[in-house]
Amino acid sequence: MEGVVHTDSDASAFKECFSLTWKNPYVLRLAFSAGIGGLLFGYDTGVISGALLYIRDDFKSVDRQTVLQESIVSMAVAGAIIGAAIGGWMNDRFGRRTAILIADFLFFIGAIVMASAPNAPLLIVGRVFVGLGVGMASMTSPLYISEASPAKIRGALVSTNGFLITGGQFLAYLINLAFTKAPGTWRWMLGIAGLPALVQFILMLLLPESPRWLYRKGREEEAKVILRKIYPAGDVEKEIRDLKESVEAEISEEGPARMNIMRLLETKTVRRGLLAGVGLQVFQQFVGINTVMYYSPTIVQLAGFASNQTALLLSLITAGLNALGSIVSIYFIDRTGRKKLLLISLFGVALSLGLLAGVFHETTSHTPMVSQVQTSHFSNYTCPDYGSARNPGAWNCMKCLKASSPSCGFCASPTDKLLPGACLVSNDTVKDLCHGESRLWYTRGCPSNFGWLALIGLALYIISFSPGMGTAPWIVNSEIYPLRYRGVCGGIAATANWISNLIVAQSFLSLTEAIGTSWTFLIFGVISVGAILFVIVYVPETKGLPIEEIEKMLETRTLHFRFWERSHKSQEKSQAV
Ligand code: BGC
Repeated sequence: MEGVVHTDSDASAFKECFSLTWKNPYVLRLAFSAGIGGLLFGYDTGVISGALLYIRDDFKSVDRQTVLQESIVSMAVAGAIIGAAIGGWMNDRFGRRTAILIADFLFFIGAIVMASAPNAPLLIVGRVFVGLGVGMASMTSPLYISEASPAKIRGALVSTNGFLITGGQFLAYLINLAFTKAPGTWRWMLGIAGLPALVQFILMLLLPESPRWLYRKGREEEAKVILRKIYPAGDVEKEIRDLKESVEAEISEEGPARMNIMRLLETKTVRRGLLAGVGLQVFQQFVGINTVMYYSPTIVQLAGFASNQTALLLSLITAGLNALGSIVSIYFIDRTGRKKLLLISLFGVALSLGLLAGVFHETTSHTPMVSQVQTSHFSNYTCPDYGSARNPGAWNCMKCLKASSPSCGFCASPTDKLLPGACLVSNDTVKDLCHGESRLWYTRGCPSNFGWLALIGLALYIISFSPGMGTAPWIVNSEIYPLRYRGVCGGIAATANWISNLIVAQSFLSLTEAIGTSWTFLIFGVISVGAILFVIVYVPETKGLPIEEIEKMLETRTLHFRFWERSHKSQEKSQAV
């Protein structure tokens, strides 16, 4: 099957099919109702960075103990790891729709517990609930949409879920920025996510189970009724035949034995699917997306933009570009194909990471010097390490920011931020003193002329990542596995995604401190080059193929070098042979 490109999924067929879907809004209703899971995924992962600022105001214990702050953030990801794993099993056993309903229940409980939490431990319990829901929804929503979509526009419909993830993140950032420090702010921020969960619960109660899952469970008549609602009249009988064939083949191959992990890996198609699916999910995280999503304000400051507000505003732009990028994906995924889009996306990601590494190298190696005259202007607050340095004349801003015990900051010259400035103890009093003289105060990155290039690098990164690497791994995972293992395998891949997410997010700040921002981005850059090679070799093109045929393709091919389309004529020839 490799290389056989379905020419009926070209642009005009796409438009025709899409308008058909528009006329028959049932499929759109299915996609959007299930996509609310994506919205919750995006909102709940995006909202916490802002909410934490206000939680720290209310709970002094959280403000004092970094470990509590870290737990509030990362316990949701830990929950998602477990949620994705349990969700996989649950999907195959109880159905896709049931898994979504359970995820909604968890979201709702989590939102209520968090909004009413009287202390930090209960808040963490709420975050675990939400995390379980996020993990479950992250793999179930794309799977449900994929199994209920006509092949020609399957990618576009699953991409709406990706759009709702990024839209949810954007919404969260917007809410973070809009809310002031009014009492109870964070309770609203976290609690409001209960509402879409409730809406989705009701919408899903009104929708049917996935027709493919029903068929597999022997509920053929119910499945046929739903398929007839989804497919254009001319295609539905063929679809039912394909599904029947594939289920019969599965059953005869499977025999009476129960599924277990060894059996899973012994099956060639599953092994090959898992290699591509898990690999894509791991690479999605290891090219560093969530360092940008979770830490973009910090990155902006590392690039030499001093104020918190500028940093937050710029991170809102990042999130907005990300959401725009997922709309691009909806448009291109079924035209260009998953593989080509992934490669274009990764190419841009690697390039922008190279740019970011270069810019950060420049900003850290050309930083303003520390002036003794400027520093003694704030004599009581001289940075102790600087004061006792043997060679203070060699100190520059970067060296000043690296000083520890206590940590120090750089107060720029009032005339030009690039001229020599003062190296002072870092605390709120000194910050206010520095600002009081209309100077800029730097604690994360130093003043630089190249900061704007870092912003271009960030924008380029997100615009490249979003349409391909942002959505395609979820799409491929929703369509690549044989029907009987689709839930479990999607769950394994989603679990790998969340574990990788945790590793990258937890290590990013430590990495930048240990080896510097420039090297950190360079490492992500090298990983993206690895990802390009991986996609070329191991990821099959699944565009436009009926889900049942993807399995046949995996049966015949281990390696999938081809990612360009063959001409119509050569396809006909190869099909005739
Ligand atoms: C990823 C998330 C990421 C998001 C960024 C998703 O596809 O799985 O980890 O935060 O894209 O928009």
